[in-house]
Amino acid sequence: MPHAPSQTFQAPVAVPDQPQRFRIGVFDSGVGGLTVLRELYRQLPTESLLYFADTARLPYGTRSQAEILRFVRDILTWMQQQQVKMVVMACNTSSALALETVRSEFDFPILGVILPGARAAVQVGQRIGVIATPATAASNAYRRAIAEVDPTVQVWQIGCPEFVPLIEQNRLSEPYTHLVAQEYLAPLLDHQIDTLVYGCTHYPHLAPVLRTILPATVRLVDPAVHVVGAVAQELDLLGLRETCPPLPTRFCVSGSTNHFAQLSAQWLGCTPVVEQIDVRTLACQSVSLESAE
Ligand code: DGL
Repeated sequence: MPHAPSQTFQAPVAVPDQPQRFRIGVFDSGVGGLTVLRELYRQLPTESLLYFADTARLPYGTRSQAEILRFVRDILTWMQQQQVKMVVMACNTSSALALETVRSEFDFPILGVILPGARAAVQVGQRIGVIATPATAASNAYRRAIAEVDPTVQVWQIGCPEFVPLIEQNRLSEPYTHLVAQEYLAPLLDHQIDTLVYGCTHYPHLAPVLRTILPATVRLVDPAVHVVGAVAQELDLLGLRETCPPLPTRFCVSGSTNHFAQLSAQWLGCTPVVEQIDVRTLACQSVSLESAE
């Protein structure tokens, strides 16, 4: 799975006398992508970011591939209008089901989390468990990506449909969440995994719960950490790395701004200003134009 075709990418042109900074677009269905945003802040502190959470259509992990493709195209079309210089799919489900298809449809680089996560996992493990959304687990994306890097590694994938709703409802510390986690991890522990991959960007938010269940010897791999390494390489390759202090991050959601602002504050360390955006507008407009003709 190569990264975006760098040779076909044309950098956005800044207006003379008015130095413009172009943001990196980051998207997820909800607060999961904040785990990637956090890593971008840590590893690339001078980059300006645009975060979009498609909270009105969450969860993605129980949707069909056709729906995921439509949602991803909506988001990328809107991000293109915002003149982003690159997009990070901070969503495994989108990376597994849509990345390969949409990559050639847009003229900016688009990076996903699966290949960087798979590469990192084979560096540390031989018996790898992957917890993911049902759609990602069913796609076999991690199994394939890991096999491409090292076919001798064993992989077990578990779909965890309850995790994303529990995280989005802020029910992390409830005993029920602990029970659900125990149930999902049990088959992986039976297989004596040595490594666990967070195959959904929401799941690092569950680390305090998962750590109490997993033996201390099991290594946790967070693809968010590794996709940012790939972003840095791509920025350098394209000469797009920013050196000036960044613009404030723009946060946009398709659902409730208040809910997102309150929920995300615990991971961002401050309550963000959040805009509501209907990314479906473009698609709807073109449909209504077509039907008016
Ligand atoms: N956080 C996303 C992922 O990595 C999406 C989860 C969902 O909406 O089901 O797959």
